[in-house]
Amino acid sequence: MSRASQTGQDLPPMSPQPAEASADDPCGAIGGADPDRPFVVAQLGQSLDGRVATATGESRWINRDAALDHLHRLRASVDAVVVGIGTVLADDPMLNVRRVAGRDPARVVIDPAGRLPHGARCLTPDGAPRIVVRACDEGAPTGVEVIRLATGTRLMDPLAIVAALFERGFRRLLVEGGSRTVSQFIDAGAVDRLHVLIAPMILGSGQTGLNLAPIGRLTEARRPRTSVHLLADGDVLFDCDLRSDGRTA
Ligand SMILES: NC(=O)c1ccc[n+]([C@@H]2O[C@H](COP(=O)([O-])OP(=O)(O)OC[C@H]3O[C@@H](n4cnc5c(N)ncnc54)[C@H](OP(=O)(O)O)[C@@H]3O)[C@@H](O)[C@H]2O)c1
Repeated sequence: MSRASQTGQDLPPMSPQPAEASADDPCGAIGGADPDRPFVVAQLGQSLDGRVATATGESRWINRDAALDHLHRLRASVDAVVVGIGTVLADDPMLNVRRVAGRDPARVVIDPAGRLPHGARCLTPDGAPRIVVRACDEGAPTGVEVIRLATGTRLMDPLAIVAALFERGFRRLLVEGGSRTVSQFIDAGAVDRLHVLIAPMILGSGQTGLNLAPIGRLTEARRPRTSVHLLADGDVLFDCDLRSDGRTA
């Protein structure tokens, strides 16, 4: 961890600040991503014991202000934010940029079976594009685009979701949750960068964070190049480059 990281000084000041990139900025790699290919960052906020929500589905707030500011900076760094329907049903998030200065990204909900309530806050017509990704014929409120994709055995291919969004001009994507969605995107090889925000909190039983395909041997474990940032109020950000592998670096 760098000296600056230990003091939390390498992270941008608290809100409201414009989403600018700098050498030490964990959002910098996202803002500067190659515009000719999709760039996907995923985030999860979790407890020390690896939970993203309590057993009853409560996740507000595991992380504290600096981590929430960081999440909003991530949103402001991308063209579209993607969540699974489970997150919308549990949290009814707005998915806009409020804690920092910056542009609201498009909001995308993966909702294969058409369970998204028309009154969900992420569908509010505020100028940002709103998209649902569906496998079924269910309609959507006026102004909400529907992307229809086939399901494989059970899932819509995360790479097909990324490609469909890229075709529409959404080049930088934030997969914001929940854990099932983030895990599927990582297992599919669709994620470039993973930001895990760990709060010094112990939840006990609850919803696990990443739940990836098993490996046979410890030597097969991935060791992505990672930078660690201690945030001002005690949460820790692990910024993992999933396109790298520390075993071969
Ligand atoms: N701590 C955090 O950072 C954080 C962030 C977000 C959410 N959360 C918490 O996480 C919980 C929700 O997470 P979750 O894992 O249960 O749900 P989720 O990931 O939000 O949504 C999962 C659902 O989305 C649909 N889906 C996602 N990807 C799909 C794909 N590739 N193909 C087909 N369907 C796909 C499926 O819907 P169907 O079930 O309709 O098939 C799937 O069951 C809530 O408690 C929320 O508070 C925490």
